[in-house]
Amino acid sequence: MNQPAETISTKSEANKAIDSKTRQQIKKIVQATNGQAGAPIRVLQQVQGLVGYLPHEVLQTISTEMRIPLSELYGITSFYSFFTMVPKGRFVIQVCLGTSCYVKGGQRIIDTLNKDLGLESGGTTEDRRFSLETVRCIGCCGLSPVLAINEDIHRRVKPSQLKDILSSYQ
Ligand code: FES
Repeated sequence: MNQPAETISTKSEANKAIDSKTRQQIKKIVQATNGQAGAPIRVLQQVQGLVGYLPHEVLQTISTEMRIPLSELYGITSFYSFFTMVPKGRFVIQVCLGTSCYVKGGQRIIDTLNKDLGLESGGTTEDRRFSLETVRCIGCCGLSPVLAINEDIHRRVKPSQLKDILSSYQ
C-alpha cells in the first residue's frame, strides 16, 4: 500500500531514533529493572517514554542489553496497543468507532480526516503535529460520535467542525 505524501517514512525516522546518549539512557533503564518481574514490559514502557516510540533500532538495543531475543520484544510491542513502533504526532486524534459512535457517524469523521485533511488512519502528518487512530468506545456513548485529542474529548462531533477543532491544536 502506498503511503500518502503527508505520512512520514518510518524507516528513515527509525535511523534517527537513537544516538549514543539515548543508548546510554536505555542501558541505565535496563540495569534498573534487571531481574525484576515483567522487566521487558517495564523497559519498553520507559524507553517509549524516552524516545517516543519503539523502532527496530531501539528494540535491537534493548534486546542486546537485556540479552533476550528480539522476537520476544516484537511480540510484546505488537500485542499491547499502547506500544508503538512508529513516531506519533504531538496531538494524537482517536476517533471512536464503537457501535454507538459508528452508527452516529464515526466513519464519516474518519473519511473527512482522510480525504479533506490528508490524515491517514494509523499515520502521522509530516510535521508531526497529528497522528490518527481509531478506538472502540471511550466511555461517552451518550454523546456520540466522539473523538479524543490527547486528553480532550470532543462530543457530538460533526465532520464540518473538524477543521475548526484541529486548528485549535497548534
Ligand atoms: S461507542 Fe464511542 S464512546 Fe462508546
